[in-house]
Amino acid sequence: MKLWAGRFGKATDSLVDDFHSSISFDQRLFEQDITGSIAHATMLGEQGIIPQADAEQIVAGLQGILQDAREGKIAWQTDAEDIHMNVEALLTERIGEAGKRLHTGRSRNDQVALDTRMYARVACRETEEMLQELISALLDIAQQHLHTIMPGYTHMQKAQPITLAHHMMAYVQMFLRDRDRFRAAYDAADVMVLGSGALAGTTYPLNRERVAELLDFSRISENSLDGVSDRDFLLDYLSAASICMMHLSRFCEELILWNTNEFRFVEMDDGFATGSSIMPQKKNPDVAELIRGKTGRVYGDLMALLTVMKGIPLAYNKDMQEDKEAFFDARDTLVKGLTVFTAMLKTVTFRTEVMEKGASGGFTNATDCADYLVKKGVPFRDAHKVVGELVAHCLNENKALLDLTLPELQRFHPAFAEDVFDDLSMIACVEKRKIPGAPAPEMVQAAIDSARKRLEK
Ligand code: ARG
Repeated sequence: MKLWAGRFGKATDSLVDDFHSSISFDQRLFEQDITGSIAHATMLGEQGIIPQADAEQIVAGLQGILQDAREGKIAWQTDAEDIHMNVEALLTERIGEAGKRLHTGRSRNDQVALDTRMYARVACRETEEMLQELISALLDIAQQHLHTIMPGYTHMQKAQPITLAHHMMAYVQMFLRDRDRFRAAYDAADVMVLGSGALAGTTYPLNRERVAELLDFSRISENSLDGVSDRDFLLDYLSAASICMMHLSRFCEELILWNTNEFRFVEMDDGFATGSSIMPQKKNPDVAELIRGKTGRVYGDLMALLTVMKGIPLAYNKDMQEDKEAFFDARDTLVKGLTVFTAMLKTVTFRTEVMEKGASGGFTNATDCADYLVKKGVPFRDAHKVVGELVAHCLNENKALLDLTLPELQRFHPAFAEDVFDDLSMIACVEKRKIPGAPAPEMVQAAIDSARKRLEK
């Protein structure tokens, strides 16, 4: 018989049981559910809302259930609907009458919101730690490759020379922002909502601040309707997760490209690549492809919950039970993605000679050539045109800018002098870019140092 069955004349249709039961997925909340109930019961006893002896019995009973659940010894029941009623029914089965007092001054509506908030806090912290590890792996690569020249691209066309360190540091910035987003999502979840009741608070003199303190929440919710119907904190998590997956996916896309025969900038470790069942020569970057592909799932989870929430009148409606599968799926996908990506990244071999060679093709020093003329007093727009003509000439002759002789260069503009050859080398092009945020090794070193400091905070 259902805990709520008092007013019902017959049992739930088995089709309905199967349809609306959430225990198959919300059993993941057992730790949070039981811990939350222990805090609630403790407070009920302290406030004299239930007898102190009952509160103690409840707490002891819940601790036993928690222990057994951790050891996987509990068979959760589908017809007990969800984790909340499973735990309550089990408690009463184990300790008798006192168990029936646990739900005083509480509703599953505020209970499920509390549990989900507690789970979201754990998920945010765990993601933050994984991001720290990824960022420190990137910083190590950057530190090793301050002087490794590679081509930077726009429109997938070679643009200007940069360094591998500078490229890695771009991702460090993205993942640091991700970490900030998960911190913000943590803060959004960090609100204690018990006391909201079903929707209109409760008549019992609950000590909400005490429950917040017991469960390490920094504050309590200020509106009981909002307390039970707010899932913004999950949307914050899901959008942070979506953006983080988008960053991983872009990085994967680059590794896939760099790993092609055409680029050959990187070599994937054999442990992070797979073969083909028909083509014996193949070594495919499946891991990177799968992370790129799984990004879609996480976006889907975000869209699913946004859509679930958009039409729900205040306060709780059963639609909101749909929040959990989307959230858990995004969390699992993100955790797997970050774990496998960081491990893969640590094993990638960078072919620095190929990168450096790639930097000097494709006129990556053309901007510097124009800047050279500017230094000699030529207005930039004129210099741009002269270098454009030089590039066209080189394309005809199948040459690079630095393959031309000084007299040839001077035919295009008399300001060219002997020092042009040093000025346009790849190393010079990178080293001259020494304003904050630019790729000169000393500036990238400064960026690494600053990122390390942020990482420690
Ligand atoms: N399993 C439900 C959920 O996840 C718990 C809250 C149910 N409340 C209710 N009034 N039916 O949303």
